[in-house]
Amino acid sequence: MGPIRGGTDHIYRNTFARHFEGFDLAVAPFVNDVGTNKIRPKYVRTLLPENNTAMPVIPQILSKSPEGFVHLANYLADLGYQTINWNLGCPYPQVARKQRGAGLLPHTDTIRQFLDNTIPQLKGKISIKTRLGREHKDELFRLMPVFNEYPIAEIIIHARTGRQMYDGVPDLDAFGTALALSRHPVVYNGDIRSADDFIGLSRRFPTVSRWMIGRWAMVDPFLPMLIKTGKDTAENKTKKMQAFHDDLYDQYAHALHGPSHLIDRMKGLMVSFCLAFEEDKKAVKQIKKSRTPEQYEAAVYRFFDSALWNC
Ligand SMILES: Cc1cc2nc3c(=O)[nH]c(=O)nc-3n(C[C@H](O)[C@H](O)[C@H](O)COP(=O)(O)O)c2cc1C
Repeated sequence: MGPIRGGTDHIYRNTFARHFEGFDLAVAPFVNDVGTNKIRPKYVRTLLPENNTAMPVIPQILSKSPEGFVHLANYLADLGYQTINWNLGCPYPQVARKQRGAGLLPHTDTIRQFLDNTIPQLKGKISIKTRLGREHKDELFRLMPVFNEYPIAEIIIHARTGRQMYDGVPDLDAFGTALALSRHPVVYNGDIRSADDFIGLSRRFPTVSRWMIGRWAMVDPFLPMLIKTGKDTAENKTKKMQAFHDDLYDQYAHALHGPSHLIDRMKGLMVSFCLAFEEDKKAVKQIKKSRTPEQYEAAVYRFFDSALWNC
């Protein structure tokens, strides 16, 4: 399961695992490091082992500070996490401008120094999630030989540049070049929307070690199982989605403070869920307009009552 900040938090991951199969593990959305002498409990609550009992998790850190990264990574190692993922892919300008996430990709020497200064001090292993580059795909081509010099558990490549954000299509030729350059296990990520997408990609890239799905499993949570088994065995998909939704709603109602947080969270999830159904425009509009739990519940009930699965 790919990390979606604001989407695949521990509540979502645990609830997902109660309703669906197919994912072997999740990379958690990033947490920021906050320096060398403190841990912000609010940031790491989502990673506490007692909150992550349903699915194995690899935590992810967004950082350009070796000291800050080591401090947080070793705190997480003490909690039992054997591998920590370093985020080299976040494309948002407010992150990338500060040379974090994808903003680091043009700076080969800074990345080399980071790995020099972190790896000897880490209690566990490091893995990397990257894009092809911030601006150009040759940034990753320059970095792969650098990564090869270090012990890195795996390299997850979202086959777009940061500049692309989520637009356009993954550059499969560039992914293939990066894959051939790597001595480490490589994970493919980007636009796996269907079992057919997966079959095409796995035939083209037989040396890929694992596959990551982000947004499209939030739209169609049956997809990972379909890919695993090759069989579309799930019946009553609408009912199952409704049960998943209702479970998420109950979990978030307990965890979040106040109805407006709850409604915002659930509306965000419903934006994804709605894409898997033939649209009932009126019901969707009602969901978007709802302000109170009562209005939201009525709108969602209406949605699932008339919704037709369309994935
Ligand atoms: C709203 C949103 C939040 C994301 N948050 C993270 C994150 O915290 N860490 C990360 O490495 N990638 C993050 N991503 C990127 C996804 O993990 C994934 O790489 C990307 O969506 C492409 O894969 P997909 O086509 O399977 O979704 C995020 C993407 C979106 C759309």
